[in-house]
Amino acid sequence: MSAPPVVDLPIEDERLAQDVATGLAAVEKLLRSSVESEDAFVTEASKHLIEAGGKRFRTLMVLLAAQFGDPSAPGVVPGAVVIELTHLGSLYHDDVMDEAPVRRGSPSANARWDNTVAILTGDYLFAQASDILADLGPDLIRIQAQTFSRLVQGQIRETVGPRDDEDPIAHYLSVLADKTGSLIAASGRFGALLSGAPADVEERLSRACEAIGVAFQLGDDLLDVASTGIQSGKTPGTDLREGVKTLPVLYALAAGDSPRLTSLLSGPVAEEDVDEALTLLRAHPAMARARAELKAWVDRARADISGLPDIPARTAFLALCDYVVERSG
Ligand code: IPE
Ligand code: IPE
Ligand code: MG
Ligand code: MG
Repeated sequence: MSAPPVVDLPIEDERLAQDVATGLAAVEKLLRSSVESEDAFVTEASKHLIEAGGKRFRTLMVLLAAQFGDPSAPGVVPGAVVIELTHLGSLYHDDVMDEAPVRRGSPSANARWDNTVAILTGDYLFAQASDILADLGPDLIRIQAQTFSRLVQGQIRETVGPRDDEDPIAHYLSVLADKTGSLIAASGRFGALLSGAPADVEERLSRACEAIGVAFQLGDDLLDVASTGIQSGKTPGTDLREGVKTLPVLYALAAGDSPRLTSLLSGPVAEEDVDEALTLLRAHPAMARARAELKAWVDRARADISGLPDIPARTAFLALCDYVVERSG
């Protein structure tokens, strides 16, 4: 199984394309050197997923957002590395929580070693992120802290599930905003702040990126049902096995029109039933409804992006919106 490649945006403007390529290469270099430890095993465990692949979606957002200020400002590349390390650490932990065997087309750290190694490596990555962040100043440190707090609380609320008096769909959408939207919003904000972009642009970018983040996670949830695993580099049906009720599942349960599907989806799906549940769910109108919700979030992002200064990066952000829609199929 191969890993999904780095996001390949169609960027027509040559200068922007060059800036992005240079930025991605610089981030990659610093990302790898930032996890070097005197202990060879710590380095190996940390580099495991970096080398396995990853789309560098958040890095791209930092770099594009930095175009609204001075993209060559010295904090931009380290800022992107902080975001990417935070993301990476959260993946090491997420795969433990979700008992996921595959990540980025490779065995997850918990599968290759064990949960202890995966948890501690995730912690190490967060520590390395903090070390770089310390040089970027207290404002950035606070944004990262608040972002990480939201991310973790999103993960906790997903695990606990909705309260009895809470609408499950509203609960899930708020979980998506916290566990995924928060860090993608921070990517836009970091790029804007570190490049010295105007405050109104920073706010607009952060809002747009949060909506893109919710849409991105909705696409990920759709791919968990619809993909073969080649496309995502992950094992399809992981959410079903874990009993994580994503939007297509919630819509199918709310429709309640297939007793067999309702019974399969009411709790964690047993391994022997996963294929049947996936087949039934793929054919259910709940999938199209969840896709429509994804598109509504992308449209919100597009509306904000349209109010940004008219530079090539604005066009690239709109292309990123198309990418998020197309990725989910
Ligand atoms: C995976 O994020 C976790 C989600 C928030 C869906 P990505 O899909 O960006 O993962 P990589 O970095 O490309 O592996
Ligand atoms: C991942 O959510 C969110 C974070 C890591 C914070 P998921 O569990 O839905 O993502 P994948 O499908 O494993 O990438
Ligand atoms: Mg997961
Ligand atoms: Mg998860």
